[in-house]
Amino acid sequence: MTPASVTSVDEVRAALADHQYLADEGLATAIFLALTLRRPLLLEGEAGVGKTEVAKVLARWTGGELVRLQCYEGIDAGQAVYEWDYSRQLLHLRAVEASGAKVVEDELYSEQFLVRRPLLRAIAYEGTVPPVLLVDEVDRADDEFEAFLLEILSDYAITVPELGTFRAESPPVVVVTSNRTRDVHDALKRRCLYHWIGHPDFERELAILRVRAPEVPAELARQVARAVEAVRDVELYKPPGVAETIDWAHALAALGRREIDEAAVDLTLGTVLKYREDQERVRSHLETIVAAGTGA
Ligand SMILES: Nc1ncnc2c1ncn2[C@@H]1O[C@H](COP(=O)(O)OP(=O)(O)OP(=O)(O)O)[C@@H](O)[C@H]1O
Ligand SMILES: [Mg+2]
Repeated sequence: MTPASVTSVDEVRAALADHQYLADEGLATAIFLALTLRRPLLLEGEAGVGKTEVAKVLARWTGGELVRLQCYEGIDAGQAVYEWDYSRQLLHLRAVEASGAKVVEDELYSEQFLVRRPLLRAIAYEGTVPPVLLVDEVDRADDEFEAFLLEILSDYAITVPELGTFRAESPPVVVVTSNRTRDVHDALKRRCLYHWIGHPDFERELAILRVRAPEVPAELARQVARAVEAVRDVELYKPPGVAETIDWAHALAALGRREIDEAAVDLTLGTVLKYREDQERVRSHLETIVAAGTGA
């Protein structure tokens, strides 16, 4: 099965599960539609809920190259699309001059000196399988960047004035993620299908633990999944994501625990909560959290 030939949401769910990603029906449907309608998928959600992993898993599934563009404040076209390799152009120029030949300007603006950044790589890919383009944490970039991202995602073409237009024969699979530190513009949203990834429910989180941390004893995994639910019920600045749940289970197992108790939770809290205030808040609810975990 390939994404292009996928015919149902269940197939998508099964393929993701084959690659250790357990999606609920909402997310599987969003991915199915993005693949079928060939539209970019915008995934929003809190930290550690599995947004970036969706793109990685899609790449493993399709066999397409994962082309990742990590966004940050001030990112510009030179880092995202392409730039010219000035130092190599200069060296070339000197070498040609030294040989006494005349420099033809076109020579300097040829493929040889073009540095392809992720967006160009994803559009002008070689091979038969379209890559998976991950535009990660787009909310960190600024408006200007969003505007040219929108342009590229609208016609999957990039023009390099000196060389011409690169166009994708089949568009790449595009996953855009945001932690929602600011709102993504409506124009970009309109171009994409949108899905909010929330924290998984207990059953799915336990299933994820079993898949991602198979060496953790079953009962410990169950208790951790329950305890994390209880931790998320506490008013926190950064509630733990799935990544933290997995880390926590690993940590407890590494300490030889088969069950949780207040002392163990207290000692390993740094794998789950990365803010002192959050830790203090949870420490004042330790009894409730352990009770939720152990079912006591
Ligand atoms: N549904 C899932 N099935 C299996 N593993 C998952 C799932 N969701 C999250 N994970 C695990 O959690 C880890 C963290 O996920 P990921 O890095 O994709 O989160 P994120 O939403 O991108 O977080 P951030 O906002 O911090 O970048 C993954 O490496 C994976 O092991
Ligand atoms: Mg991420």
